[in-house]
Amino acid sequence: MSAFARLLTQSPVLESVIRSAQIVAATEAPTLIVGETGTGKELMAQALHESSRRSRQPFVAINCAAIPETLVESELFGHRRGAFTGALEDRLGHVRSAQGGTLFLDEIGELPLAAQAKLLRFLESGEVQPVGESRPQRVDARIVAATHRDLHARVREGLFREDLYYRLQVVPIELPPLRERQGDAEWLLSRFLDEFAARHGLQPPRLTLAARRRLAAHRWPGNVRELRNLAERLVVFFSGREVDAGNLPADIAPQALAAGLSRFTLPEQGIDLERLESDMIRQALDRAGGNKSRAARLLGLSRDTLLYRLKKFAIEA
Ligand SMILES: Nc1ncnc2c1ncn2[C@@H]1O[C@H](COP(=O)(O)OP(=O)(O)OP(=O)(O)O)[C@@H](O)[C@H]1O
Ligand SMILES: [Mg+2]
Repeated sequence: MSAFARLLTQSPVLESVIRSAQIVAATEAPTLIVGETGTGKELMAQALHESSRRSRQPFVAINCAAIPETLVESELFGHRRGAFTGALEDRLGHVRSAQGGTLFLDEIGELPLAAQAKLLRFLESGEVQPVGESRPQRVDARIVAATHRDLHARVREGLFREDLYYRLQVVPIELPPLRERQGDAEWLLSRFLDEFAARHGLQPPRLTLAARRRLAAHRWPGNVRELRNLAERLVVFFSGREVDAGNLPADIAPQALAAGLSRFTLPEQGIDLERLESDMIRQALDRAGGNKSRAARLLGLSRDTLLYRLKKFAIEA
């Protein structure tokens, strides 16, 4: 099985990104993966490595945002014992540890400028200069970088070197956010529900129409990670049962809010809620040409709930 098969999708947009990535994997070109949080940048970096001819060599992943600025150079490029106070032993550094393999620079947008200069030098010469070492050393490591930031904006702000930006941009891979991947959220959710149900020895829950509608309107700021976490929670709490819209976490907003509409405001003099409800139902039926399932979807109700209300308001479809 190809390492890319772990990137599940039904979206033509992401499928085409994966096809280009498969071509890129076979090359040595520095690769920059961009995408919002949770879109699969790390998964993609691993797939690039595992499908390359370097797959049996090390894959060294480092999070540039997690290293204190004063340590970043020696963390990346290593140092010689005694090069500075506290350098008690020789240190290889991440770049040299990736010898023969792939160096994954995660959150590259956070790399301090001084380290950016050294990284660029490495990319151009294939050599690193460990702190306190008199001669540069050759390293053969492929660079894959990732960021959730708009790197070009960082360049304009003077926080990211333009030359390094272009050097990394040779083969950009852009992972689309989940909300732009038509149909993926619902398809992935059912895969993840089955996966977690099997893992925990539980039955997957069933989602009502209203719950599915609400999920369809959600913008998924945490992308696939958010979806996976939700799937696991639903399996744990609703195994073998029904999940309705009201059972979803509060940050999965009701449709009216998610669709960007403003909140309904209660008029000063109050309203006749029953009348509002029956008017909305009539309008939905009208718009749906009398089709009750479609009218129910427009209202965020299940078909059964709509039928009950039609009876209650004595509305003839
Ligand atoms: N297309 C996908 N198919 C299956 N699982 C996915 C997919 N994309 C992401 N995931 C899963 O979602 C979670 C987040 O993915 P990953 O860590 O690769 O995201 P990221 O882009 O690196 O996020 P961040 O910017 O927050 O580091 C992981 O559990 C990963 O396995
Ligand atoms: Mg990541």
